[in-house]
Amino acid sequence: MTHARLPSHRPPIQVIAHRGASDDAPEHTLAAYRKAIEDGADALECDVRLTADGQLVCVHDRRVNRTSNGRGAVSALELADLATLDFGSWKDHEESPDWDPVPGELTSVLTLERLLELAHDVRAAGRPLQLAIETKHPTRWAGQVEERLLHLLKRFGLDSPPAEGPSPVRVMSFSARSLYRVRAAAPTLPTVFLMQFVSPRLRDGRLPAGARIAGPGMRIVRNNPGYIERLHRAGHRVHVWTVNEPEDVELCTRLGVEAIITNRPKQVLSQLGRS
Ligand code: G3P
Ligand code: CA
Repeated sequence: MTHARLPSHRPPIQVIAHRGASDDAPEHTLAAYRKAIEDGADALECDVRLTADGQLVCVHDRRVNRTSNGRGAVSALELADLATLDFGSWKDHEESPDWDPVPGELTSVLTLERLLELAHDVRAAGRPLQLAIETKHPTRWAGQVEERLLHLLKRFGLDSPPAEGPSPVRVMSFSARSLYRVRAAAPTLPTVFLMQFVSPRLRDGRLPAGARIAGPGMRIVRNNPGYIERLHRAGHRVHVWTVNEPEDVELCTRLGVEAIITNRPKQVLSQLGRS
């Protein structure tokens, strides 16, 4: 195992808005992403799924039942069906008192293409906003999620990092196979292996073949901080999800993780002294 200690002068922890500023606005909507940008997030996280007609949309669950007024699996619906649904009014107003339901594009189904356009506009205005895109249900479609994703990234010139500076996009997945496919087709694109638990063969800090960055859940960090040290010793960057509580932000800071993925970018940035 290589021993690559990180430099003592680390850049600040990157703050990634999980499904947008999803505590304050309905997840995966333009409203949530605009709020995250306004709050100062460094990057936006989104989950992508394929519709029945092969479009990538930003939806977390297999079905649309929880986050819209419709029913059914994303994979069984066409984009035109999804476009008739309201992805905003499910949001609980008691939990998110600042949320004013807005009909129209802000709470319609969000395509990955539209999110890439938004990020492009922000970057064109001079802010180095990044995207962390997670492939969902990659086994069902046997490579089509990654193929469509890379096709879209290529159209936006995002399928490889610029000669200088960080990549504006990274691809994340719980599926090592999905990352392997991405890595095979776009070898320079950063890939993050997400983990809900640490499998025995990865306990020493190793990552699966297609992965370059480790993405442990916050539960792993709390229960096994030594594992984070092992990942660092193995030379991997560590991006933790989903970090919402101040004590978790503090622990991640203490352990020197490189990025935290949070539903509350505004509060986290403020805790880190960046607002
Ligand atoms: O950012 C990684 C995290 O989003 C993974 O869990 O279920 O929220 O997609 P989930
Ligand atoms: Ca996700």
